[in-house]
Amino acid sequence: MQSMADAETADTFGCHALVGGTPKVSFWTRRKAIDTITAGHADSHQLKKTLSWPHLVALGVGAIVGTGIYTLTGVGAGLAGPGVILSFLIAGAVCACAALCYAELSTMIPASGSAYTYSYAAMGEPVAWFVGWSLILEYTLVCAAVAVGWSAHAHGLFKMIGFPDALLAGPHQGGLINMPAVFISMAVAGLLALGTRESATVNMVLVFVKIIALIVFVVLCLPAFNLAHFTPFMPNGFQAHVPEGAAADAAKVGVMAAASLIFFAFYGFDAVSTAAEETKNPKRDLTIGIVGSMAVCTAIYMIVAAVSIGASRTEVFSKSEAPLVFILESLNHGKIAQLVALAAVIALPTVILAFMYGQSRIFFVMARDGLLPRALSKVNAKTGTPVMMTLLTGVLAAVISGLLSLKDIAELANAGTLWAFIAVGASVILLRLREPNRPRVFSTPLWPIVAPAGILGCLYLFLSLPGKTQLYFLYAHLIGAVVYLAYGMRKSVLAQQERA
Ligand code: ALA
Repeated sequence: MQSMADAETADTFGCHALVGGTPKVSFWTRRKAIDTITAGHADSHQLKKTLSWPHLVALGVGAIVGTGIYTLTGVGAGLAGPGVILSFLIAGAVCACAALCYAELSTMIPASGSAYTYSYAAMGEPVAWFVGWSLILEYTLVCAAVAVGWSAHAHGLFKMIGFPDALLAGPHQGGLINMPAVFISMAVAGLLALGTRESATVNMVLVFVKIIALIVFVVLCLPAFNLAHFTPFMPNGFQAHVPEGAAADAAKVGVMAAASLIFFAFYGFDAVSTAAEETKNPKRDLTIGIVGSMAVCTAIYMIVAAVSIGASRTEVFSKSEAPLVFILESLNHGKIAQLVALAAVIALPTVILAFMYGQSRIFFVMARDGLLPRALSKVNAKTGTPVMMTLLTGVLAAVISGLLSLKDIAELANAGTLWAFIAVGASVILLRLREPNRPRVFSTPLWPIVAPAGILGCLYLFLSLPGKTQLYFLYAHLIGAVVYLAYGMRKSVLAQQERA
């Protein structure tokens, strides 16, 4: 870590070049100064400012409410039993800590790049690179996971227009490729490439659709609420573990195993912070956008989870890929069940939209910093969006969603997100210690407790993920290390400024 004196030596390029009187620093301690990050960039690399707080709350809720609540509620209930309600509580509490840290950093550093940008300022380039790499992994995988969840709800529709079964499921389910998932990934990428403003407005309408569907679900299930469904509460125990007698690489079960999966349902508020550069009044709008969308979604989830368990036994609805639709059907609300499925089909793409938006911008900022090829970060003059990156993200998500299972994709996405959240918590702590007097429009309440609690919570959730997910995450970061050593370390804008 560098001292405050070092921080004050940051030059106009944001490079801490004068450590100990020498003109250069090692790449390991290369950090960006916050004032430089927020000072703006050359026109061809500047995003248009078109968004305000209603767009951001809609972007947040649009990103948060999705496949997690519509589909993974069932998978989580299968792992934890009725105790899945605790899984929701734990994952929600960890995300709340992270959301408060995000709110502080995104208002203090209102620039694109989210956790990557904050880490660059707080912890230096190599850590920032790994956080950025995690975010690229996370955002792409979230798009793919939601596309698979969308496909589960749209299955009937594609069958109706003549799609053969082999094109409706990936190889893990005995099919060839999940074409509906491929289709929706590419469709959303196309929409985004047309321009931010249009897609944010469409997003706002669709957010209402999925929230109303959840409210209808709750209202129809309430009369069937049965407290007896909550016992036994934790049939698989609390701690994540491989069931006795199962193969060592079998999936973990228990409340924490479900929490590490259900965590997927809560994040998305971080996508709001990636829009910082395109926000008209970042300080006010980002605070309302992040904290507001998180609070609204947590309340909705707790209610939907409790009502689902009350209306149907977890061992029954956990078998369905569309558990909310299934529960309504089992309560003889067939027609409304179809409408809820339709709402999911219409509205789940908002989640893909928000994450694809975030993804293309993380790529954009990393390329602008020279850590990825700069040609990729070019903004289209007409639409004001990085078209090439958006389409590349769409293709990647399409391939992954076409071939892999929802649980596997979601868990790997969670691994990337958990480390990004850990980095955000660490950045809050480091910047509080290093720059205590810098104005903070939003201050994380009780930061010495909230930030470490968020970090420890994320670590516990990461350790509760299946062993193979942790391993794949490690492999992905070994590849990341090679890319950084071979490209970013030398091509980084800060490195070039140091050499000049
Ligand atoms: N929270 C988002 C979802 O559940 C990623 O789909």
